[in-house]
Amino acid sequence: MDELKGFPYPFKEDIYRYSNNSTLLGQPNCIELTSNYRKEIHLKRNLLIKHPERCYQSLPHTIPSQWEAMSLITNHLITYFPEKFSLVKDGNNWTFRNYPLNEEYCFTFGDNKSLAMEPLDFIGRHVQEDIIIMMQRDGDLYLDAGQLCFPANWSLAFNLGMNFKEIHQPIPGFKEEGLDNRILQFLLRLEDGAPWGRKNWSLMAGSRLDTSLETFDAWGKDRRKVTFENAGELVRLRVEVQKLFRLPRSGSILFTIHTHLLPLEKFVLNEEWLVQFTRILEELPPHITDYKGLALYKNTVLDYLRARLKEKGIK
Ligand code: HEM
Repeated sequence: MDELKGFPYPFKEDIYRYSNNSTLLGQPNCIELTSNYRKEIHLKRNLLIKHPERCYQSLPHTIPSQWEAMSLITNHLITYFPEKFSLVKDGNNWTFRNYPLNEEYCFTFGDNKSLAMEPLDFIGRHVQEDIIIMMQRDGDLYLDAGQLCFPANWSLAFNLGMNFKEIHQPIPGFKEEGLDNRILQFLLRLEDGAPWGRKNWSLMAGSRLDTSLETFDAWGKDRRKVTFENAGELVRLRVEVQKLFRLPRSGSILFTIHTHLLPLEKFVLNEEWLVQFTRILEELPPHITDYKGLALYKNTVLDYLRARLKEKGIK
């Protein structure tokens, strides 16, 4: 039941369209910890070892931003989870402790040689979030560094160095409706101390977090396995909690993505969610259905949801 309570339900209305659905964060922490912490950190670290190019990319000029991002994340860890993390600073000599993993690291802040890896790569191995740095220059934002282990069907290596509009180019209607420009202008104005957050959603067949574009062949075919009988167990609502923080010294933006999965059989236990999500899926336009990769099994999922509604006596 806790899984259900803590799940970041992404919808506000009965109709879903692409929009700037960002809101100011009530609590300005870029990191959230769930009961899957150890499992997901273990998975992340394994992926980083086995597929370093897929999971970590950076351009050399991002190093100062990386230290700044690392400092912000560390600060949030010790502020919001003081029983799990600690940081002792003696000038630039920092000692960071991760108690759940029983790990201790001593390094000199700002000195690349004092860490075994780049600062963004280091701190990413202590949080469930994927973390991206968008560098701001010439009135634009560029994806110049990131640690990405749990992508929803995109490739960090492919997108490295792209600007905001290029990254969002595959989304149908995004450019035509002027959304890409509006969101970019909003992001360029993002202020230090006033972080924003949004939720993105999709459905997926299976329980993989690492659904990268590079491994599509391995997980994409599970969509064909969805049936009315197994939809509740096999299909998951996938929600990304995304947060945006201005890094004041470098002027770049830290973008964190926390991915949550909830099997439909648990999701439908919340009656309001069941009713609203059924309406959303019924009405979802083909361009969004296709882009999200739902075309193959959306109707099967709808049959499953309608059967649950019928059981509850709701039309
Ligand atoms: C600034 C950091 C951001 C990065 C690095 C980023 C990156 C991405 C990427 C890689 C995709 C997948 C594109 C593909 O199909 O290849 C995507 C999709 C998308 N992004 Fe962003 N994004 C950012 C911020 C935002 C913001 C602030 C918004 C809206 C307010 C937004 C809205 C969307 C939407 C609506 C999609 C389509 C998602 C779907 O239908 O599943 N993005 N983004």
